[in-house]
Amino acid sequence: MREFYLRLPGPTEIPEEVLLKMARPIIGHRTNEFQQLFLAVTEETKKVFKTKNDVLIFLGSGTGGMEAAVVNLFSPGDTILLISIGVFGDRFGEIAESFGLNVEKLCFPWGKTYDPEIVKKAIYNDKEGKIKGVLVTHNETSTGVLNDLVPIKEILKDHQEILLVVDAISSLGAIDLKTDELGIDVAITSSQKALMIPPGLTLISVSDKAWEAVEKSKTNKFYWDFKKASANLKKGSTPYTPAVSLIFGLRESMKLIHKEGLENVFERHILLSRAFREGIKAMGLTLFADEQYASPTVTSVRMPDAVDPSKLRKILENEYRVFVAGGQQKLKDTIIRVGHMGYIDKFDIINTLWALGMSLDKLGCEVDTLSGIDKAQEVFKEV
Ligand SMILES: Cc1ncc(COP(=O)(O)O)c(C=O)c1O
Repeated sequence: MREFYLRLPGPTEIPEEVLLKMARPIIGHRTNEFQQLFLAVTEETKKVFKTKNDVLIFLGSGTGGMEAAVVNLFSPGDTILLISIGVFGDRFGEIAESFGLNVEKLCFPWGKTYDPEIVKKAIYNDKEGKIKGVLVTHNETSTGVLNDLVPIKEILKDHQEILLVVDAISSLGAIDLKTDELGIDVAITSSQKALMIPPGLTLISVSDKAWEAVEKSKTNKFYWDFKKASANLKKGSTPYTPAVSLIFGLRESMKLIHKEGLENVFERHILLSRAFREGIKAMGLTLFADEQYASPTVTSVRMPDAVDPSKLRKILENEYRVFVAGGQQKLKDTIIRVGHMGYIDKFDIINTLWALGMSLDKLGCEVDTLSGIDKAQEVFKEV
């Protein structure tokens, strides 16, 4: 019997192949074997980022990667434009503020995407050219909204001096992020989401333009220093002890992703998320996020008035061993969030819908579970 089903938007389930690789005896990180492995795995990750830029891999969580971007690219007093559509967008702004940056905030209603016209105006109104960077979340995990970055690319086309910094923590490896094509200077992700390995790594791509900014940055930094990481990477090394076992795991997850084919991975996520959303609606439940921008990796489901999301999650966990996430901050009592990224297939969608329906039923909330499952199946049959 499966111990549990992890339908969180991170950490996500880990394929057996990856778990087995990580269980092998640890090796020294200054050995030739590790250095070869680190260089090879770094190259593999570039394909997932769709970049020719450098990719730096640090031991740290996604938030660490966001902080690393801020401290390496900017200096205290610099102005940046923050596009926020939820908790993680806000966090990016808080990190920048905590390092003395002047954060011009463009905050949009939760559950919706950003308005490109407002972004355009903010850039246009910056006559003195103060804005040094635009910080934006690709996939807002707190609401389940995917931001289309193409309009930002268009807006920044005439502002080559502005850096585009993207939090791709819950998208990279599941959603197509064309780092180079979109002109993204720094993209950040972490290991515990679509990359299908445990928490502990943050991966950061750095463009040539970003490296110029790194040279000018006056913010204090030590552990996150991009220059030290880059100098070490040239020798297949890291400045400090790396997460050796996670690198074993990353190598294997890269193999699995490339074996399935990156584009197939993206298609799978689109299909599974669509089936899940259609299933939810057919059950009689309501989606929280604007469907036009619904995330392929996480879905937020609005709870019926009579349902306490924390009680529902308890039943899901205790009776069906299904773990989903609650809403964050002001959405705590309003939604649940279901992750469907990384190591996930059709069966996971069907059993999650079923467990959700059964748990709601237990709470006395009538939903049409069978119609939900039926609808999800219909979506699967379309392809
Ligand atoms: C979009 C996004 N940004 C940032 C983070 C923070 O990452 P971590 O929890 O690894 O620090 C998360 C984590 O869920 C996320 O989904």
